[in-house]
This record gives sequence, structure tokens and C-alpha cells, in this order.
Amino acid sequence: MTDKKATLTINHGDGTRDNVDLPLLEGTLGPDVINVGSLTGKGYFTYDPGFTSTASCESKITFIDGDKGILLHRGYPIEQLAEHSDYLETCYLLLYGELPDSTQKDEFFTTVRHHTMVHEQIRTFFNGFRRDAHPMAIMCGVVGALSAFYHDSTDISDPHHRTVAAYRLIAKMPTIAAMSYKFSIGQPFMYPDNSLDYAANFLHMMFGNPCESSKISPTIARAMDRIFLLHADHEQNASTSTVRLAGSSQANPFACIAAGIAALWGPSHGGANEAVVKMLEEIGSVDRINEFVARAKDKNDSFRLMGFGHRVYKNFDPRAKVMKQAADEVLAELGIEDEMLEIAKRLEEIALGDDYFIEKKLYPNVDFYSGIILKALGIPTSMFTVIFAVGRTVGWIAHWNEMISGSYRIGRPRQLYTGYSNRDFTPMDQR
Ligand code: CMC
Repeated sequence: MTDKKATLTINHGDGTRDNVDLPLLEGTLGPDVINVGSLTGKGYFTYDPGFTSTASCESKITFIDGDKGILLHRGYPIEQLAEHSDYLETCYLLLYGELPDSTQKDEFFTTVRHHTMVHEQIRTFFNGFRRDAHPMAIMCGVVGALSAFYHDSTDISDPHHRTVAAYRLIAKMPTIAAMSYKFSIGQPFMYPDNSLDYAANFLHMMFGNPCESSKISPTIARAMDRIFLLHADHEQNASTSTVRLAGSSQANPFACIAAGIAALWGPSHGGANEAVVKMLEEIGSVDRINEFVARAKDKNDSFRLMGFGHRVYKNFDPRAKVMKQAADEVLAELGIEDEMLEIAKRLEEIALGDDYFIEKKLYPNVDFYSGIILKALGIPTSMFTVIFAVGRTVGWIAHWNEMISGSYRIGRPRQLYTGYSNRDFTPMDQR
């Protein structure tokens, strides 16, 4: 708490003024936050479409300094986690606030492993989808349906139920993700192999088949793990805020995560990784880059450089830096020469030297290079956003749990109403 205050002066336009003192809240890091909660009692709302200036909650999980390009999970820089940690350890950190010791790590890994299978009836549930359904459409449906299969972890007031739901979601997301892919290509679903690590198990379910034992390359499994880790959390983004809002009505955790998946799907958010690869394919060669950069700058053209720009980062997205380095390493290790990587690098160079992008502080974001790595790993484009969803599940759950275990009220924004004022119903013969 702090004694600092902001004073809002309301000029009524008739020579009279009101001063309203608003408390300033101080975080550990980041700007002070003006608590406007008392304004409604004075007859005012605040107006902030897109929530560009609004802190919707208090959180201890993740911190971003967008001007400096800093991302911290529970205080640890993302670069250090990407180098020294792995996805499941980072999950533990996000959920419990500290890095696990070796016993805690073993227990956590073992428990996640024991939840990887899905209820057998979920397999038949898939048959209701068209084979050409987008895997994200399947994810929204199947994850939402988990609450129909796991009633024993939907009492949100019970911390044990919440923990079991968290384990189930983290463990089953790769299984459901791989099933949505297998369904689309008409191959049998693969059961998880719990002797494998998290990322290797996912690759086994994606690319294995019952006729041959799958060989998972450690290079590919490590790269996959790093991609999950880099997507694990990103504070109050659109999908996490959606999960919190859905959760604030006391909806069950599976329904809340399904809402998050739906919000993630759009190309302005998680859908951008798929859109980047489509854009790079459309560009096709280095000599066409300028044409696309010109289109991105043209106010009359709706085209945007996908994988560029961010609401919070006005500097390099630190995840993009790690991702770019990982793309170089993975392609070198796999001996792949991909012209797309060359186009992406040149595009980045041209955009970063262009006044439009400089003035608007548009830098590559996490999605710019992730698609190139995923493509090199053999992941089909339609699965890119699904992989983002798998990685982000822990972030969604950590935020949901933080909210439910603290004090919260139902999220209920207000509006600036600009429609008709009161009018009488018009009978049909007078319309
Ligand atoms: N290409 C060209 N111009 C852009 C771009 C872009 N990628 N991004 C923003 N701008 C321009 C925009 O036209 C606007 O110009 P003006 O001020 O003249 O109207 C200005 O920059 C600010 O853009 P905005 O849309 O008001 O910014 P925002 O904070 O609302 O949107 C964004 C952020 C990420 C949705 C946007 O930058 C964008 O559409 N980027 C491409 C999609 C993308 O890569 N999304 C992934 C985000 S990172 C992964 C994740 O966390 O989901």
C-alpha cells in the first residue's frame, strides 16, 4: 500500500468542478496503477476499449516490461528458463511460484504422466467431427467436453479438485491435440507412452503409428519442449483474460480453458503463427519482400505483417529472440535448408530498418519464427495454433487458480451507451 494518490478533476462545463482522489497502487515492478473502483459511486465509468490502460487484476505470476523487452515468470527471465529449464519444470514454477527441488520435480512429472490418457469414450466423441475440421475447432469442442467426463474435478471451491483439474489439463492437452491431428489424416489414435518425456510423448502420439515403434529424435523433442516453454504464459493477454472472465462466473475449469482456446484461435493472437507461414509462402522469394512491406504500410490495404507488432512489446519480444536462435539451431541440426527462414530473416531486417515500423515500434513477436521451427519439425500448419494452446494451458490454469484461490468478483465491464434513448414501440403498420 502507498499514500500516493491521483486526483481526477471533473470539469462540469458550467464553471463547477469536482475533485476525486483515487488511490495509487504500487506493484513490485511496472507502473503505478490508479484504482478507479470508487468512480462508479460518483456516477462515472472509465472508458478504455481494448483495455490498453486497464489492469484487470492483481497477479504474481508473470511480468512484462514491453519497452525493455523483458519477460519474467515468477521473477525468472524467459531466456534463462529457455536455456536451463524445461517445459514441465516451468509449469511447476508457474503453478506453485518456486522452482521444484528434485523430489518435487519427480513427483510433479510422475503425476502429470499418470494423467496423459483420456477417457476411452472421448475417442468416439471425435467421430462427430468432419475429417476436414480445423484442429482448433476440435480442441474447442473436446476440451470443453472434458467437464462431461471428469465430474470429480469440477468443484472449484475444493483446492484438491482444482489441482486434479490442473494436472488433467496439462497432461491431456497433448493427447487431445495429437488425436485431433490423427483424426484429420485418418490414422488411428495413438495412446500416450508414459515412459517418454512430455514433448517426446506428444511427438510419439503425432507421428507414431500402431504398426511401427516410433523413433523420436532427441533434437526434435528438445525443440518441441522449448516451444511449449516459450508459450507457457504471457500475463493478461486476450485468451488468459478470457479464461479469468469465464472463471469469474465460477464456471468449471474445463469450460474456462475451452473459452481460452477459442480466444487464442484468432490471427491477432495465437492464430498468427499459422498466418506467418502462409504469409511467407505467399511472399515466396526474397525479391518480393518490398512489395509486401509496402502493402503492410498502405492504409487502404488490410494486410499486416503477421508475426510483427505487439500490444505490450514496443521493443523485441524476448521470446522471438530465443525462437530465432532456436530456428537456426534446429534447422542446422536437422540439416534443413529452408528458403522460408531466409525470407523471414530478410523481411525482419527490412521491416526493422523501415520508418513505418520504427515509428510504430513494431518488432517481431513470438509467432514470427515459431512456424519455421514447427515446419522443420514436420508439424502441419493447421496444428501450429494447437501447439500454442498446449503450451499456454499451464498459464491459463495458473491464472485461473490464482483468481479462484484469492478474492474475486464476477467480471462485469460497463459501457458507453450511444444507442437510442427511450422510445415507444412502433406498431407493424407504422414501420
Ligand atoms: N503490420 C503493419 N502495421 C501494423 C502491424 C503489423 N503487423 N501491427 C500494428 N500495425 C500498425 C497499425 O496499423 C496501427 O497503425 P495506426 O496507428 O497508423 O493506425 C499501429 O501499428 C498500432 O496497431 P494496433 O492494431 O492499434 O495495435 P494493437 O496493440 O491493438 O495490436 C497486434 C497488436 C499484435 C494485434 C498487431 O500488432 C497485429 O495485428 N500484429 C499482427 C498479428 C500478430 O502477429 N499477432 C501475434 C501477437 S504475439 C502472440 C500472442 O501473444 O498472441
